[in-house]
Amino acid sequence: MRGTEEVAQPLQSLEEWDDFVASRYQPGKSQEEFRHYSAEANPGVAEFYRQNHAHQTLDFVLAKRAEYLPLKRGKKSIWEAAEYLNTLVDSSDPDTDLSQIEHLLQTSEAIRRDGHPRWFVLAGFVHDLGKVLCLYGEPQWAVVGDTFPVGCAWSDQIVFPEYFDANPDGQVAEYQTPNGIYEPRCGLDKVYLSWGHDEYIYHVTRNYLPEPAQYMLRYHSFYPAHKHGAYRNLMNEHDERMFEWARKFNPYDLYSKSAERPSLKELRPYYEDLVAEYFPAQLDW
Ligand SMILES: [Fe+2]
Ligand SMILES: [Fe+2]
Repeated sequence: MRGTEEVAQPLQSLEEWDDFVASRYQPGKSQEEFRHYSAEANPGVAEFYRQNHAHQTLDFVLAKRAEYLPLKRGKKSIWEAAEYLNTLVDSSDPDTDLSQIEHLLQTSEAIRRDGHPRWFVLAGFVHDLGKVLCLYGEPQWAVVGDTFPVGCAWSDQIVFPEYFDANPDGQVAEYQTPNGIYEPRCGLDKVYLSWGHDEYIYHVTRNYLPEPAQYMLRYHSFYPAHKHGAYRNLMNEHDERMFEWARKFNPYDLYSKSAERPSLKELRPYYEDLVAEYFPAQLDW
């Protein structure tokens, strides 16, 4: 791991976090049940959140934004990024676990089956490419996990809130008010969320996708807001309207998993056209 202390990777694969989120929001499950996740029943996931909540501070987020958001890691096509991401092999069970590209295709194909516009299908196809952060050496807790604003009080709608006790921002009074360092209703564009794959892929793709797709990519892990309605004090009216798109996107991300493996070979011509319709041959990463 570059520059930072070596941290144990508590999840067997990034998918384990995605699976946990899907299990949390099973249709019919109440919000009360959501709050009662026991660390004992989910030790890897709990350890993951312990690290995430302890280390995602405002300073950390600002440092990662300064490191990555100038997009100076070189040029890559969408396809090169997808193939690169696919080299992230899941250590748990290589036979049943879907590769990263398969998750992207299952998401985008479910969107396509429902007859949504082409840009929406494309958003599904690229939404997790920011997970290449893992291949740059970032620990899991800085790549995946539900996102939340830093620099203001943590919502009690965030899963495993007790792990914030170890976060040094808890000692900074200014960061512990509902609005923290932000103006009320300032708009989410001015708010720093915990660092991860959403913000990164949003920056890589934002010049090429319509705004609803940008919201889908940028906020798809912001469960406290799009699932639980938290942080409305920082959202403006435009965010609230646009969050309808983040909510529309979410079920495709969570519930499109199936045992049927999509065939990249068969689907490739469609996605080659779709990617070329919106993106240049190479993007800055
Ligand atoms: Fe994601
Ligand atoms: Fe996803």
